[in-house]
Amino acid sequence: MNKIGVIFDLDGVIVDTAKYHFLAWKDLADHLGFEFTEAHNELLKGVSRVRSLEILLDIGKVKLTDEKKQEFLISKNEHYLQYINKMGPEEILPGATELLDNLDKLGIQYVLGSASKNAPLILKQVNLYDRFVGIVDGNSVSKAKPDPEVFLIGAKKLKLKPEHCVVFEDAIAGVEAANRANMISIGIGDKNTLSEADFNFNNLTEIPGDFFTKVISEKIFVK
Ligand code: BG6
Ligand code: MG
Repeated sequence: MNKIGVIFDLDGVIVDTAKYHFLAWKDLADHLGFEFTEAHNELLKGVSRVRSLEILLDIGKVKLTDEKKQEFLISKNEHYLQYINKMGPEEILPGATELLDNLDKLGIQYVLGSASKNAPLILKQVNLYDRFVGIVDGNSVSKAKPDPEVFLIGAKKLKLKPEHCVVFEDAIAGVEAANRANMISIGIGDKNTLSEADFNFNNLTEIPGDFFTKVISEKIFVK
């Protein structure tokens, strides 16, 4: 088989941390005196921490000084980490471990490509950290998704051309980043929301057994 590699988004693909982000952001919104709903939380998926705060403040029509923003970014993250520190392997999303096992069997390497600055900690909490040949996270990039930077660094870690990389993503910004990087994009979640992806699945349990050996190989190498 010709060489391909895989880049995984973390939040919403391997683990569901959106619920913890929601609790921590909602607490801040409560403190600032406006309502923050689960529908609002959808807007923050795949978005960097700083940009998330800006979106949240827009929702509440709240203006803050840069100093206050820094303070809330720190306190929100401290609150979020209280949940993360309680995470364990049981929080790995269905199908993720089986997919990594299958990639190992096929000799296909994978790296992480996440916007989260907490990605290494989260992977350690769920005992997956050592399985990745590289981690690209919110600390390694200067431009957030939908900029392709995070995935292009991932391709370098895999020592592969971008067009030989396959990206698993649950966020619109992430699918756009993968497409802009000239990689194969796999949308995990609602097909209508992630309509720009090359392939769509509701979750990782739906990936067919021959997906990498046949479907992806043919798409990349048989033109
Ligand atoms: C992404 C999440 O993976 O990471 C976003 O989808 C989050 O919701 C972003 O805002 C940044 O996360 P962190 O852990 O650096 O605050
Ligand atoms: Mg995600």
